[in-house]
Amino acid sequence: MPVEWAGSGPELLVTIDRASGAGLRAQLEEQLRTAIRAGRLAGGEPLPSSRVLARTLGLSRGLVQDCYAQLQAEGYLTSRAGSATRVAATASRGPGTPPPKPGRTTGHAIADFAHGVPDLGLVPRDDWAWAVREACRSAPDSAFGYGEPAGARPLREVLAAYLGRVRAAAVTPDDLIVCSGMQQSLNLVLATVDASPVAFENPGPGLPARRGIPVPVDEEGLDVEALRRTGARAVLVTPAHQWPTGVVLSGPRRRQLIAWARECDGIIIEDDYDAEFRYDRDPVGSLQGLAPDHVVSLGTVSKSLAPALRLGWIVVPPRLFEPLARAKWLADRGSPGIDQLALATLIESGRYDRHLRRVRSEYAARRETLVGALTRHAPHLAVTGLAAGFHAVLHLPPGTTEDQVVSSAVARGVGLYGMAGLCARPAPPRLILGFGNTPRGRIEPGIAAIADLLGALGKT
Ligand SMILES: Cc1ncc(COP(=O)(O)O)c(C=O)c1O
Repeated sequence: MPVEWAGSGPELLVTIDRASGAGLRAQLEEQLRTAIRAGRLAGGEPLPSSRVLARTLGLSRGLVQDCYAQLQAEGYLTSRAGSATRVAATASRGPGTPPPKPGRTTGHAIADFAHGVPDLGLVPRDDWAWAVREACRSAPDSAFGYGEPAGARPLREVLAAYLGRVRAAAVTPDDLIVCSGMQQSLNLVLATVDASPVAFENPGPGLPARRGIPVPVDEEGLDVEALRRTGARAVLVTPAHQWPTGVVLSGPRRRQLIAWARECDGIIIEDDYDAEFRYDRDPVGSLQGLAPDHVVSLGTVSKSLAPALRLGWIVVPPRLFEPLARAKWLADRGSPGIDQLALATLIESGRYDRHLRRVRSEYAARRETLVGALTRHAPHLAVTGLAAGFHAVLHLPPGTTEDQVVSSAVARGVGLYGMAGLCARPAPPRLILGFGNTPRGRIEPGIAAIADLLGALGKT
């Protein structure tokens, strides 16, 4: 009769067949080896103690100890005095093979100036794991059921205090709806707000043509007079760091924009994009804090922590709270509850702020490296939009096209990305240089390669 174990430690099915004629130790060894090679037992996972495994499978403890010793000798397992026997970190690819580096998967040999992601190697994994564990440990049973449509109250309380403190937002927990990132927040707001068409920034992420009217952005941000002329009563803006030009909405434009909303009883949808990453001056507060009745403000942890967490929030005027909370409930019955509690725990513990301080100084150093490299290698090219975040805009010389530069760069091992896809009308050639996930040491060689290829195109 086969005896199976799926006991404590990692879930794993081990079948010992006493009628097969094969040795018991050989059976156990082979099954563990196969599970590790196939990745069913991952590197670092603890195995049950020899005592527990022996008892569960009806084997002698000595046999299990011999089996573990053999697999240790082969490099599949590791053990340290006083702690559990574990699967070796490199074992699932075969002993002796180094693990792949987590994070960067760029195919560009010299540098990849991709934008839109923070440094995935700097994600505070240990802090997040700690926060999830704390949330699981301390949450009442009810936290594992469906939560409030607007999100877990502890997170809304912590976020309200945080946004008041850091973004000068005028917000209570009853004005907050937790969502799965900015994109879901935006979809829900567009579906709920009774305003069509909606104006959006050009360049900008755009909106479906049926619903959207592009409005130009200049060095002060959105052109509010042009917005007024459209007749739209809702507008999507990125005032803290305009996406993608990188300019900050100026003080006078902020006042004009709020005056516009009050005059036409309009709605400003504020994507509080990159607000956490301001290096040269104090951060500008959110628009929401200046006109809470007319601004819907969208926040996310995609840049501050990691896109994979899929957590964000909407600060809503009171009249929109119920319809938006209902829309969120109908969309997905709420964002993952334990993750919400983990985020609350992370912020409350001070670890979130500590992480931001750490990554902010790294991004500031990369920004300096980028500016220095451009000054050395391509002083004739204008670079703008560096006030915040982790991208800048490089203005290409007249006579070049974005496609031409991007494809020549790729051939030289540099990942570059043009801005044309974010422009509603033809515009001068520009590149969006992201440095969020570009290691500092890659920036200088990448910029040197760009300067070199522009030289080869006869454009220096
Ligand atoms: C302008 C802008 N805002 C916010 C985000 C973050 O979106 P999400 O929170 O859905 O990840 C992005 C992502 O690329 C973006 O481009």
